[in-house]
Amino acid sequence: MLAVHFDPAVTDDERRTQLYDGDIVILSPTPGSRALAELGQQMLEEAFKPFDPREIDQHMTAEDVAKVLSVLKPTFIHHPECKKLIPAIMEEHGVDLDRLYFDVPRMRSAYPSDFLSSGIAYAFHPHRDTWYSAPNCQLNWWMPIYPIKADNAMGFYPRYFDEPVENNSEIYNYYEWNTKNRASAAQHVKSDTREQPKPQQALDPTTVRFLPPPGGIIVFSGSHLHETVPNLTKEARYSIDFRTVHLDDAGRRRGAPNVDSRCTGTTMRDYLRASDLSHLPDEVIALYDDDTADADKILYFGQRLAQV
Ligand SMILES: [Fe+2]
Repeated sequence: MLAVHFDPAVTDDERRTQLYDGDIVILSPTPGSRALAELGQQMLEEAFKPFDPREIDQHMTAEDVAKVLSVLKPTFIHHPECKKLIPAIMEEHGVDLDRLYFDVPRMRSAYPSDFLSSGIAYAFHPHRDTWYSAPNCQLNWWMPIYPIKADNAMGFYPRYFDEPVENNSEIYNYYEWNTKNRASAAQHVKSDTREQPKPQQALDPTTVRFLPPPGGIIVFSGSHLHETVPNLTKEARYSIDFRTVHLDDAGRRRGAPNVDSRCTGTTMRDYLRASDLSHLPDEVIALYDDDTADADKILYFGQRLAQV
């Protein structure tokens, strides 16, 4: 049975154990998380001014919104403030910055109905991040930028945390995906032809939706089956998420159970240490390499994206 913890008074080690067991942690806004949400909000309002970013579908075409997002989203990812605010948030929650590695934060958008739900604003079907080459010790941190409702939130399928789902994750190799598909996201305005790992069975459609306030954070294992809920409201939903791994767990291959993932490659080269932005030690990354690790293809994509 999975539990949801609100601001649990536990150590980081205990919290990670809860999360690897499939529990969900909800954290109240802190100065650091509020600052990150406000940075996202300011950037959105600047990019779409004079319009409210939540109602932009009433003022611009999907193509023009995609164009704005294709500049805004990478600018947010590489904003120098983000690399300060994520360690600040970790510190607020008692995480040892010398042992914590994080991936660049992403800004996501979910527009009403079918306005724009592909490419740069891809509406994620049910998936586990571990179908996309994330390690079993990856934790996801997700926060809304504006208030959200159940009909424009993220959906979780808790029963599948430890229950295998038929899926085609074997089609996914991280290095191949980065080489072929990532750069073209902005071109997929009406439909998304990029082949992605998906469930290959009917799912029990019951999802659970957590609705923290702006700057409040849902922390969950990257092994959870989760999705972007189709946005049935009249407002766009904007959120920020980033992923972390802890050195001790990465080195011991500790994490959530892998019940059904068969993808190849690893995202382990993307995480940066919270204290000095260095990469994970090579010997730790090597624990996650498979025979698709080829010197020509393995790139430090986080850094490479930073230069684009
Ligand atoms: Fe995800």
